[in-house]
Amino acid sequence: MRNALMLSVLGSCALLAGCGQGGGEKAAEPSTAAPAAPEPSAAEKQALVASLPAPYNTADIDNGKMKFAMCRSCHTIVPGGANLTGPNLHGVFGRKAGALETYKYSDAVRNAGFVWDAEHLDKWLAEPRTFLPGTKMSFAGLKAEKDRIDLIAYLKVETGYKAP
Ligand code: HEC
Repeated sequence: MRNALMLSVLGSCALLAGCGQGGGEKAAEPSTAAPAAPEPSAAEKQALVASLPAPYNTADIDNGKMKFAMCRSCHTIVPGGANLTGPNLHGVFGRKAGALETYKYSDAVRNAGFVWDAEHLDKWLAEPRTFLPGTKMSFAGLKAEKDRIDLIAYLKVETGYKAP
């Protein structure tokens, strides 16, 4: 949604050719009006990481972001992001597995019966098909533990996780 908005803003800028001059105020309008909660700053993200329980408190979220490149073709993480091949992951921490109403899960995930937290995600991301046999997530797994830690910390920061 936000990308689409940005694109249409860019598009109208290109058409009007007036966005360059005096466009400062105009260009700022959508970003102040649209999002309900502002995007946390880099410093706020780093502070959130530091507040996580070990080993996530020392995670490298830049590496996590790089690892998320493996997920991006199938998952969005922004609030209200589209379901792609896989469900939108915003708010996934603290959400029951398979609970997003707008997405059609496999029985394996829908009936998993747990709530997503770092521990479950770690097992899931290591090898989805042995953790929940019958899942339709075709991802082989992220074998390096450190990469999973970094990715999980990155997901916490980017999907709206709040410390309990
Ligand atoms: C090829 C597409 C694909 C890739 C790549 C992929 N996923 Fe998925 N993901 C899916 C699908 C499909 C599902 C739904 C699984 C089901 O219903 O069995 C899913 C489900 C999930 C869920 C469960 C969500 C919920 O609401 O219960 C999480 C968490 C998840 N993926 C995280 C990731 C992460 C993190 C990565 C990157 C390391 C990743 N996925 C890579 C397709 C993918």
